[in-house]
Amino acid sequence: MAKDMRENVLRLSDVTMQFGGVVAVNNLNMEVNRGEIVGLIGPNGAGKTTVFNVITGVYAPTNGAVALNEKTILENYPQGKMKTMYKGENAGKYGKVQLLSPDKITKMGVARTFQNIRLFKELSVFENVLIAKHMNIKANVFSATFMLNHREEKQMQEETMELLKLLDLEKNKDDVATSLPYGKQRHLEIARALATKPQLLLLDEPAAGMNPQESDDLMHFIGRIRDDFSLSILMIEHHMQVVMGVCERIYVLDYGALIAEGTPSEVQNNPKVIEAYLGVD
Ligand SMILES: Nc1ncnc2c1ncn2[C@@H]1O[C@H](COP(=O)(O)OP(=O)(O)O)[C@@H](O)[C@H]1O
Ligand SMILES: [Mg+2]
Repeated sequence: MAKDMRENVLRLSDVTMQFGGVVAVNNLNMEVNRGEIVGLIGPNGAGKTTVFNVITGVYAPTNGAVALNEKTILENYPQGKMKTMYKGENAGKYGKVQLLSPDKITKMGVARTFQNIRLFKELSVFENVLIAKHMNIKANVFSATFMLNHREEKQMQEETMELLKLLDLEKNKDDVATSLPYGKQRHLEIARALATKPQLLLLDEPAAGMNPQESDDLMHFIGRIRDDFSLSILMIEHHMQVVMGVCERIYVLDYGALIAEGTPSEVQNNPKVIEAYLGVD
């Protein structure tokens, strides 16, 4: 299907994220279309995780806009002290402020995993996924745990089991989360993200710390969940084999700015990309 025929799920327009004097993301334009698996790569410190923090509402962008299904969810322009401190581009292009909170953005169908695994360490695999489901409905962990009626509770438990089955974690359901092998902990983190029924899944270095067998499994796993859950996926990853094997398109960031985009083979052979990675490996 031609690229411009595809339905747009996520669009970043001129997104700049400046912390004090540090421009972590510089005038970024990128998009994810429905059903795509898109890679976001670049050397350490390039701004990749910051992009996820902007999309999920953790940081308000300093300038620019983010749209979900063609509807603006975040928009900002340099104001207050930033008016004079701003070092980015396109300062005059955006005049409106709209900033949805992280929980609203989750409810709109965006879920993420973290570069460093974040699980409830002492809880079981089952409980970890169930709590993620609760958190999506209630505002905080206390009301989430105690305020549901029996029917809702039963349904969530069934959905949790269903998810564990689909993600090959059924046999581990009563295991303490941290007792799982590393690769399975990564699966569990993805299961937790899927518990909120996202349409767009953001994965931050899912293969980090995996051995070659685990990262090979992960590649197939990501393709499978995209199909099974009708997801669009944006993924940050350092393992080039995983990125090149699973992504249809790739964006390359260096010092916060986009230096290349294209298919895996286009990006691999791009001199700017090769230069950015020289001396990094
Ligand atoms: N909350 C913050 N305050 C100040 N600087 C930050 C903050 N978050 C990220 N940065 C800076 O932004 C840059 C990009 O970081 P990050 O997005 O984590 O890079 P990557 O994920 O590509 O390794 C780094 O220079 C980092 O120090
Ligand atoms: Mg990072």
